[in-house]
Formats: sequence, C-alpha cells, structure tokens
Amino acid sequence: MCCPSNAALILSLLKEKSSGVFGHSIVTGIIAREIAVDIGLCDDEVNILYLAGLLHDIGKIFIEDSILLSRENLTFKQFNIIKQHPERGARTVERFISEKLAPPILYHHELPNGKGYPYGLRNDEIPLSAKIISTADKFSALTMERPYRSALVTDMAVLVIDDHIKTFFDGKSRFVRSSLKSLNMRDLHILSAQISNDIDSLLASLKYSI
Ligand SMILES: [Fe+2]
Ligand SMILES: [Fe+2]
Repeated sequence: MCCPSNAALILSLLKEKSSGVFGHSIVTGIIAREIAVDIGLCDDEVNILYLAGLLHDIGKIFIEDSILLSRENLTFKQFNIIKQHPERGARTVERFISEKLAPPILYHHELPNGKGYPYGLRNDEIPLSAKIISTADKFSALTMERPYRSALVTDMAVLVIDDHIKTFFDGKSRFVRSSLKSLNMRDLHILSAQISNDIDSLLASLKYSI
C-alpha cells in the first residue's frame, strides 16, 4: 500500500512539531534522491529513497517537546527516548504509507562501525537504502547552521563523513562522494525553507510512482 495523502498529512504534523526537523528532513530527502540516482538505482527505488528521506525522522513527532526541543544537554534517559524515533517512525510509515519505507527509516541511525542504534548492526547487515538515508541525514545536518557552530561547506562536510562513505558504499563510494560534492547546499537549505510551505508540491512527483 502507498498513500501519498497520508504522507502529506504526517509531514504536516512534523512541520507543526518542529520547523527545524522538518527543514532538515526536506534537505535529507533531496540529498537521498541525488545519491540514489547517481549510484544507478531504478526510478521506484529513487522515489522510495526520496520519501524515506522526507520521513526519516517522523518518529520524532511522538517525542515530547521538552526533550525534542531542549537546548540543554540531554540526560541519558532523555537520549534513550530520542533513540526510539527510528522504530516509532518505521511503525508509522508501515501502517499509514508504505511498508517499503520502513527499512530505511528503521535503520537510519545504524553506523558503519556497528555502534549505532537501535540494533548496533554490522555494516553488511545494514540495507543499502538505510545507508543512503544515513549519509544524506549526516550531510544535511553538517551543512546546516547550528546555534553552536556555523554550517560546514560541502567539501569539508564530505571530508568529515568520508570514512562513513567508504565503509558504507565500498566500490560505489566515489559516486556518492561526487554526488554530494555536486550539491549546492546553501541553495538547498534556502530552497527547503521556501518549499516547506507547500507539502503537496514536495510529494507531487510521487503520486503514481511508489
Ligand atoms: Fe534520525
Ligand atoms: Fe535526521
């Protein structure tokens, strides 16, 4: 089952919850789509990756504002609550949009060194779709302005996640690297702020495709 109108509704809940997480999610979706195209995935997979990027942090709509929007350092207990968002997000998309979106969302915080969450999977146990969302997620975050640091320029952000890219994509890592380097992140973050008012147009290309 795929239900784009549910996707629009659920994305609007995320936008209501946190415009920051919503903007980051738009950028993550666009980057994931670029990587998917550049490593040669088919149109269906490209669409799934785009939508999974837009929805990867959707589990955060269930996290209370005092934790999600906190500007203080989180306690161990609070961080454990944040760490529930991949599972809660995967359950949500599986039930209301499409089961195909669940794996990239469920595993997007797994890491190449096996120290990620929720399961601490090893590199070869992590699906390619989740590796793409993880990379797009990190790149989106690094190139975004934060209260405690300025945005990294594209080349520097690629350098910071280079080990991540090498382990995750092996023979295809050069395509991922050049895909990321081709992006104009400044424009992309500005664009995400502009199009965030029009969720339907974000999803328009997906209507008949997944
Ligand atoms: Fe996340
Ligand atoms: Fe994220």
